[in-house]
Formats: sequence, structure tokens, C-alpha cells
Amino acid sequence: MKMRIIKGKNYDEMSRMAADVVAAQILLKPNCVLGLATGGSPLGLYKSLIARHNAGELDFAAVRSINLDEYKGLGAESDQSYRYFMNKNLFSHVNIKTENTFVPNGLEEDGDKECARYDALMADMGGTDLQLLGIGHNGHIGFNEPADAFSTGTHCVALAESTIKANTRFFASEADVPRFAYTMGTSGIMHAKTVLLIASGKEKAEIIKKAFTGPVTPQVPASILQLHPNVIFAGDEEALSLL
Ligand code: F6R
Repeated sequence: MKMRIIKGKNYDEMSRMAADVVAAQILLKPNCVLGLATGGSPLGLYKSLIARHNAGELDFAAVRSINLDEYKGLGAESDQSYRYFMNKNLFSHVNIKTENTFVPNGLEEDGDKECARYDALMADMGGTDLQLLGIGHNGHIGFNEPADAFSTGTHCVALAESTIKANTRFFASEADVPRFAYTMGTSGIMHAKTVLLIASGKEKAEIIKKAFTGPVTPQVPASILQLHPNVIFAGDEEALSLL
């Protein structure tokens, strides 16, 4: 593993520093493929990218993006879908072409069909240049939950109880959180040329320690990143406090 650590004092500083990495990737390769994530972790980073775009410093005209995951059953119109999140928090504020942005189709009921389509799409794009990741409290990346074996390709998952609880904050009630999702698998994530993992807050400190200093095990899906040759970990002081 080659891991570089970027340490920000707090969430905002961490977000700006992580945005520097994404901006550098776009400047170096204007038609790069960005693997993108949703959730609380990348929000500040997306804001920072939007500010740079507004300042005329960052051009998304040739950028392509492919997201990690989507709830099964939710479409672009649903304000809890990840497609909606991406449109609202990034895509609609920069000059990325909508047709160059990809998120699994949550409305496709045939899981095998959607997962095969997504893997073929990723292969067509040549994989991702930079994969942005958050990490769940149980070590999940994308929606790859703790399991007896590492996943490989895109697949449909039943969300772990802890993930449903963690994501309830975005829904009216726990009962409204979808129970299934489509997610890029471990191989899609691991084939990225560079992985940029972001985490903030003291409630992530323990899992960060486990993922990077503990054994590589499918019980902690993020631990597989120890086998990736090029990981950048952007954290705030609290998330990094146990490393
Ligand atoms: C989101 C995703 C998830 C989140 C993780 C952390 O697309 O794939 O793995 O990155 O659940 O979420 P936050 O950032 O909200 O703590």
C-alpha cells in the first residue's frame, strides 16, 4: 500500500485540501473519469469544486463521472435518490455534460441486467482515474457491507441494519430508507488509478484505524484499500486521531 495522508484541521479545511486533489486531476487530464460518492463527507469538497468552477479555474466540459451507488427503487425525481443528490450538489452547478454523468438506475427492477450494464459501462470508460470514497461506520465503501467475502462486480445489496440507521437522517423515518441498493463492487473501486478517501469526525476514527492498521478482511470492506497502490486519505484531525 502506498497511502498519503492529507490532514485538515476541520471539515472545511479537509474539504478544500481534498478538492485540490480533484482539481489537479481535472487540470492534468481534462477528460478524466471521476468515480463519485454521495453522503455527508464529500459535500464540502463539491462546494469547493463549484467555487473553483465559478471562479473560472475549473472546466468540467470533458469530464466524465460514474457514481458508486444508488438506492434500488428510487429514480432521479425522488429527492432521496443519489442521482438527485448529485444533480443538486454538483452537476447542476458546473459545466459537466449530463450525458457524461452516470449513476446506477435505481428504477431498473432487473438487478442482473442493471449490474451487467453498469459494469460494461465502466469497462467502456476504461475504469476511473480518481475514485472518491467515504467510509461507513462499519467500514463499508460504496454499499459494500461487511460480509464473508469481498464483492467483485456491481451488485444488488441488502443494506446493513447500521447503514439503514445511519442513513435515516436523510429520510422522514427509518421505515422510508430503502432496503436494497445497487453498488459498484470491490473490483470496480480497486481498479481506480487513484483512490481519494475522505472522512471526518471522531465517530470515524475507530473504523479508520481498523481499516488501515488492522487485517485485510471482508468484515471491514475498506481494509482492501491496503492492497491499492495509490490511496490518498484526506481526513480531519478527529478522524485521524487514532492513526
Ligand atoms: C455514498 C457511499 C457510502 C458513503 C458512506 C459514508 O455514495 O457510497 O459508502 O460514502 O456511507 O457516508 P457519510 O459520508 O455520509 O458519512
